[in-house]
Amino acid sequence: MTQDFDQDPIEAPRKRFVDHAPKVQAALVLHPVRPSARHEGARAEARLEEASGLALALDLVVAASDIVVLREVSPPTLFGRGRVETIGKLCEELEIDVVVVDDALTPVQQRNLEKAWQTKVVDRTGLILEIFARRARTREGRLQVELARLDYEKSRLVRTWTHLERQRGGFGVMGGPGETQIETDRRLLAEKIDRLKADLEDVRRTRTLHRAARRRTPFPTLALVGYTNAGKSTLFNRLTESKVEAKDMLFATLDPTLRTLKLPDGRPAIMSDTVGFISDLPHELVASFRATLEEVEEADLIVHVRDIASPASADQARDVEKVLATLGVGEDEASDRLIEVWNKVDLLNEDDRLVVDAKAHRYAGAGHIPAFAVSAVTGEGCAELLTYLASRVDAGAAADIVLPAGEGQALAWLYRPGRVMNREDGEGGEVRLAVKLDERALGQFEHLFPGVPPIVAAPPAY
Ligand code: GTP
Repeated sequence: MTQDFDQDPIEAPRKRFVDHAPKVQAALVLHPVRPSARHEGARAEARLEEASGLALALDLVVAASDIVVLREVSPPTLFGRGRVETIGKLCEELEIDVVVVDDALTPVQQRNLEKAWQTKVVDRTGLILEIFARRARTREGRLQVELARLDYEKSRLVRTWTHLERQRGGFGVMGGPGETQIETDRRLLAEKIDRLKADLEDVRRTRTLHRAARRRTPFPTLALVGYTNAGKSTLFNRLTESKVEAKDMLFATLDPTLRTLKLPDGRPAIMSDTVGFISDLPHELVASFRATLEEVEEADLIVHVRDIASPASADQARDVEKVLATLGVGEDEASDRLIEVWNKVDLLNEDDRLVVDAKAHRYAGAGHIPAFAVSAVTGEGCAELLTYLASRVDAGAAADIVLPAGEGQALAWLYRPGRVMNREDGEGGEVRLAVKLDERALGQFEHLFPGVPPIVAAPPAY
């Protein structure tokens, strides 16, 4: 409430309207290059472009953007004193409302920069959190983001915010903690976090039950992963013939979407489209999205979709691999269930296209993660991809195995590489299983448990 609002009640309705009218926010996007990252050259360009994309995803208007090479890191402001001043002048000139700093800022740095520039300042974590907050659709997604946001804000809940409190307020990170949040003490915040965690636990329990039910269905599962904007949703739509929102917008997909996919041989498979990965994914979000990405951890096949036409393709792939590693999908363990789809080949020129096609063919051989060059938009390469997927999942026949009582170890073992399609527990403790195993697992089983030879039966008709 402003002062003249108090003095002039007649003006009140109009003022109130103006105060709440959505205002186009002008943003200045800066990608700082720290001294330790000087060698990254071309990457900085791609990162600046990506940060501008993130700002656009929040409906900010990018008035200017620039790479700022730092000679050294100044602890109170990240940028050196001279830089802070020049940027401040630019902000004034361009009437900037928000400065996006594509790096992690400490709460102190953020506060000092806001003071110096008299603008809102949002760092990469704040920006991504805000996008996630807007995009989360399922209850679980919303709870996770809210939790990550509170975690992030907890460290920023300091009274010195008051110098900006009139510009602030609102719910999201962009708005920052409003007056009431500043007044909220940490104990209340901690209580809220605990409540959220409990709610989340409930939702997760339900989802785990659903997942367990799905695991009992004898369908193979495929998970699409990839850097944001790589084209996962578009490919997902093409392969499952469904209509999931696919937009040239970062993180259009936030919650995992599951669909049935028909493999060329008529068998169904379950495909999940997951959240897009991004470099420097805020650690708060990596942790909170772990559960969502359980789909990935448990998938029979992980399909890493890459935008092969992007100059940052290799860097993005490395970032995705890093996130997969943090999710416990380690390189060795994952390599035999990881494949790559090199998407957007329609955007390549003829020469690059030939190179990419030849490389993908070569990668189909041993020693590499198999790769497929496709265009999710034109459909090129998608039929081959589907045929390959069919050959990879459940390639083995169904084994009919009767385990005598007391073979608990063999039983537990079978659940890991195998897909148990049917289980009958006999009264005497024996267990009869119809389980799908590939040739290798079958061999291993026979080797490890020579006493219980499986009888290979014909695969069931779907
Ligand atoms: P996130 O939700 O951010 O993780 O994105 P995503 O990986 O699901 O990407 P999405 O499918 O939303 O596609 C991003 C943009 O790339 C959209 O504008 C698509 O139309 C475009 N796109 C996807 N695949 C192709 C392709 O094969 N060729 C071309 N030219 N564009 C594509």
